[in-house]
This record gives sequence, C-alpha cells and structure tokens, in this order.
Amino acid sequence: MRKVIFDTDPGVDDAMALCLLARSRQLELLGVSTVHGNADIDTVTRNALFLKDRFGFAAPVAQGSGVTLTDKQGQPAPHVHGQNGLGDIVVPDHPDAVLDGRRGHRMMIDLIRENPHEVTIIAVGPLTNLARALDKDPEIARLAQGVVVMGGAFGSHGHTGNVSPVAEANIANDPEAADTVFTASWPVTVIGLDVTQQVVMDGAYLERLRRDGGEDGRFLHEVSRGYHAFHQRSRRLDGIFAHDSLAVVYALRPDLFTLRRGPVRVVCGGLAAGQTIQKPKDSPFPLGAWDAHSAQAVAVDVDAEAVLAFFAGSFVGR
Ligand code: BDR
Ligand code: CA
Repeated sequence: MRKVIFDTDPGVDDAMALCLLARSRQLELLGVSTVHGNADIDTVTRNALFLKDRFGFAAPVAQGSGVTLTDKQGQPAPHVHGQNGLGDIVVPDHPDAVLDGRRGHRMMIDLIRENPHEVTIIAVGPLTNLARALDKDPEIARLAQGVVVMGGAFGSHGHTGNVSPVAEANIANDPEAADTVFTASWPVTVIGLDVTQQVVMDGAYLERLRRDGGEDGRFLHEVSRGYHAFHQRSRRLDGIFAHDSLAVVYALRPDLFTLRRGPVRVVCGGLAAGQTIQKPKDSPFPLGAWDAHSAQAVAVDVDAEAVLAFFAGSFVGR
C-alpha cells in the first residue's frame, strides 16, 4: 500500500476525491491537512472533519493555512461549491471527529519524517501548506516519495484557465506557494485543467452512482448537485469536471495519463498571475528562469473513458 497525505480545501470535488481515496485498498491515508481555498479555513476544516465521520477513515485531520504564503486572503468560491463549501448539503456545525493539535504543515513534516521515502502528498487545493512545510524543513523534499498536484493549466486541448484566461483556481489562490512547490527538488506530477476538463461526469453518470453506488454513491450524487447546477449555469455543461478525483486516480492508475517533462514556473503577480508555464525538456529556448529547477511531469492527455470507468467501478458493483 502506498502512503498518502491528502492536502485539501473541501470543496465538492475534494469530497469526491477523498471518498475514492478512503475506499482505496491500494492507498493508505496517513493524514488530511486543510487549506484555505474553496471556502475559509474554518469552514473547510469543519468539512474535512465531517468527511472523516462520513467516510469513517482513521487518519488525523489537521488545520492548515488560512491565508496565502504572503499573508493575503484567497478567493473563496461560494458560487461554485455553495456557501458551506459542500454544495449546501446539511453539514453539522460540530462533527464528532476531533481535530489534530498540529498545524497542517507540521503534521505533513512529521508524517514524512516518520515514513522516509514512502509518502506521496496528493494536494488538491492552493499549495500554501506544502510551501510552508518546505520552508520549515527543506529536507522533506528528499524524504517524500513525491507530490501529485491538481492545479494549473498548460493549454493542452485549449484548456488555459478557469478563474482567468490564463490561470486555474488552486494556483491563482497562491501563486508564490505553487512556484515554491514546483521548483523544489522533489518529483511533482501536475494534473491540471489540460486533463481534468477532459473528464466530465455527466448527469446520467452521476445518476448511475446514486442508483448503483450504495451509500457513498448516493452521497457523491447529493454533494455534487449544486456543483452540477453551477456547470450548467456557467458552461451549459450537463455534468461536472472531475478535477480533484483525477489526482487520486493518477496515484492509482498512472497508465491512464500522458505526461510531458520539464521545469514548471508560476507567474506571481500582474495580469497573468497564477499562469503555469512549463519549459518542456529539450526545447530550443535559450537558458532562462526555468533551467535551474527540476524537471516535473505535467499531464497533457488522459484516457477519459477509462478514468470514468475506473472511478465508477470503485463504487458500483463492489
Ligand atoms: C480546483 O479548484 C477548486 O475549486 C476545486 O476544488 C479544484 O481543486 C479546480 O480548479
Ligand atoms: Ca480542491
């Protein structure tokens, strides 16, 4: 079993991804750290505790950063994820699960040090906690097995951004943190809009999860209803982008993705803030801001049908 830390801002698609992860027999969930993003830090942390009760996993939940690396407020998205971050389904104010006493980045450091070379961080929110952990203990870049990030957009299939023409939400919510994480010397795989917007769970698919997916399938359908309505309103799409679930699917089925290697930088500030740019390995450009940094893997293609079948297969007919 691969050991995993899940760093998250739940978030409807975060909840769906965590459900898949909690059910997995191949991934062992060591800890969940929360981060500002889809809603404020108190709300997303309450949601993570609720999901711990709901999915029944044992791993600790620790509250992470409520502001960006440069101490700014992020941009919550109530129009996408509901006022309560979980599509406005009923969530108790005080879940039974108890919060871990450590800060999110501190728990991350502890878990990586306790399990050297064994831990993969799956990060599906702004990357503030990971950047803080690297700042406090740079050695973790050598001690973690790797990082899988849902975030960014590199232009494959015409996908360039979802909060600006050039920026994706998780990266735009803390560009400095993302640049720190992508340029650190640990292996990062970036699962951006290039692939997540290729995978649409349509109305019939979500209905099938409700009908045939047992209690968790009913939950996925219920939590995604408002998110589905948002996609219908804003894009006339009868369905939802699977975003965060794809980072978990990648950890389980990397063979379903095509990767391109090369250093990745993030535009910090100005009109294009949050834009992610890769310099593909062996590209002809002269030396520049990319070259001193590790080559990272960016997902540029995905077998969407196979991802959808794999995800559904984890709920239906088990
Ligand atoms: C990402 O932004 C958040 O709204 C989602 O949870 C996902 O992590 C998609 O751009
Ligand atoms: Ca998220």
